[in-house]
Amino acid sequence: MVQYTDELKEEIRAANDIVDVISQYVTLKRSGRNFFGLCPFHKEKSPSFSVSADRQYFHCFGCNKGGDVFTFISEIERISFKEALEILAERAKIELPVSENAEFNKNQYLKERMYKINAETTMFYHERLYKPLAKIAQDYVKQRKLDNNTLKAFKIGYSGEFNELYKNLKVKGFKDEEILATGLVNKNEKGEYIDRFRKRLMFPIMDVSGRVIAFGGRKLENNEKIAKYINSNENLIYSKKKHLFALNLAKLSDSKKIILVEGYMDAISLYQRGFNNVVASLGTALTEEQGRLLRKYSDQVILSYDSDGAGQEAIMRGLSILENQGCDARVLQMEGAKDPDEYVIKYGSGRFKLLVDNAISLVEFKIKMIKSKYNLENSSDKIRFLKEITKVLSGVENKIEKEIYIDKVSEKYNISKEAIYAEVNKASYNKDKNENLILKNLVSKKQEIELDSTVIKRENMIIYLLINHFRESYEPIVTNISIDDLKLDANKIIFKKILESSAEDSEKILQTVANIEDLEIQSHVSEILVTDYGITSIEKCIEDVINIYNRDRLINRKLEIVKALKNTSNLTEKQKSELGNELNNIINELAKRK
Ligand code: CTP
Ligand code: MN
Repeated sequence: MVQYTDELKEEIRAANDIVDVISQYVTLKRSGRNFFGLCPFHKEKSPSFSVSADRQYFHCFGCNKGGDVFTFISEIERISFKEALEILAERAKIELPVSENAEFNKNQYLKERMYKINAETTMFYHERLYKPLAKIAQDYVKQRKLDNNTLKAFKIGYSGEFNELYKNLKVKGFKDEEILATGLVNKNEKGEYIDRFRKRLMFPIMDVSGRVIAFGGRKLENNEKIAKYINSNENLIYSKKKHLFALNLAKLSDSKKIILVEGYMDAISLYQRGFNNVVASLGTALTEEQGRLLRKYSDQVILSYDSDGAGQEAIMRGLSILENQGCDARVLQMEGAKDPDEYVIKYGSGRFKLLVDNAISLVEFKIKMIKSKYNLENSSDKIRFLKEITKVLSGVENKIEKEIYIDKVSEKYNISKEAIYAEVNKASYNKDKNENLILKNLVSKKQEIELDSTVIKRENMIIYLLINHFRESYEPIVTNISIDDLKLDANKIIFKKILESSAEDSEKILQTVANIEDLEIQSHVSEILVTDYGITSIEKCIEDVINIYNRDRLINRKLEIVKALKNTSNLTEKQKSELGNELNNIINELAKRK
């Protein structure tokens, strides 16, 4: 594989501000010199995720993940460091050198050919839809009330018979292995090439940038025996859990909301009727990756699943995925139609707009689910209902929000506000009690390691000084403190790296350290860089920390001598007197330092 030079890495790093990059995934708030937000790597309710704009590092004090912009992308997208580098190069429009490695180049080349084949195929299907032989597809499109603008916007098409696509692609000069890689054509046992999609209405699936990566094909006959949809299989350029149908269009919308539907047809139909902010998941339950995409391109996501289809479980899961990622997620409630397409055709876009505006939150949705289990006319049911919704309500952290919900519930289900508050307060009290207990356990454990943690913090500060204040700190630190003085392995490694480096200013030193390709070390570095050591004077701080180490060294030596003098039988008179002198000097020195 191609090895990128450190200079190139630096160029890419410099062109991708970490605050900008992370902001696409996490809502960050500035506080002093750092930015804070909810950690995208673990569930949390109060922010312990910190980003330093100065040092271009992030660190989570909750889960301890941290590092630079490359680490962030590689962790969040779950890809290798190298792929992260490639993504960030693309983001910054920096061209990467082509590898000398044949295997790597072959793969890159194949991907490009696959995109070309998909583009060619899209045109082939689309043009074919307008030909006389496509009457069945044209009739179907009419019946589904799709207009010509929509057909153009989504490049909807009609697939051929037997191997029409294959033949066309061959004429265009594509090789068999390239065509097979897209899955658009299969080879049967007899060695014949047959198109995968035949006589179907074709929906090209595009990535965010509008490149066609796959296809969905809908049957046109009313035949129960064949699958309603056939889709492209996953391949080198297509992974269905990472994409959303129509996001390339929705991202252009002015609206800060995105409506998430289940079907291609729902997205297309709504788009035609003025909702240009609709995307469809690709026949899967909402994935984490899709959640992040939604988060990136919107402020609010409105789940508009089929009224019968997905089921409440799927909605609940989708909502929690989105909420955990810091998304404002809502559920659209639809009655009188099985899906958004049918609804908007039946009742018009005005009424659908009302549904969008009245979409409910996760809390309201949960309460509604609980309600459906009980008959509130029955008083014992009503009590059980109240107990169950209390759990949901006491989980709402924001006080004002909680009050609003309680008002709503009280009015809607005719339960006195006092009764609800009484239950909620009881539940909160129990919750606090539990949390206090957990906290107590944590604190006592912490005390056991307290001693160590001050030592660790001190040596972390040494690394901090070396990185951030290289010119002032390098000489005094390396003349007074050695690798063996440090306790933590990570600090030893970083310290050694700094000693070995020929870099002579903070910026270069940071780069040296950033290039240690070890996730644990990077996380440690990030912790060091985003920690506030409360330093007021650099010189004083360097002096103090060196003094501590020198004093420790003296104390250790003192203990050594005292021990040696206890057993004088194997010492000569000369040795004894020398040790005695040294001990006196140390005692004087220590006294001076106090
Ligand atoms: N799907 C699929 N394979 C199937 C059925 C469904 O891949 N056999 C996926 C498709 O992505 C489809 C989505 O699940 O768009 C939702 O299914 P459905 O609601 O049945 O499809 P619609 O797009 O609404 O199609 P139509 O209105 O024509 O029935
Ligand atoms: Mn439908």
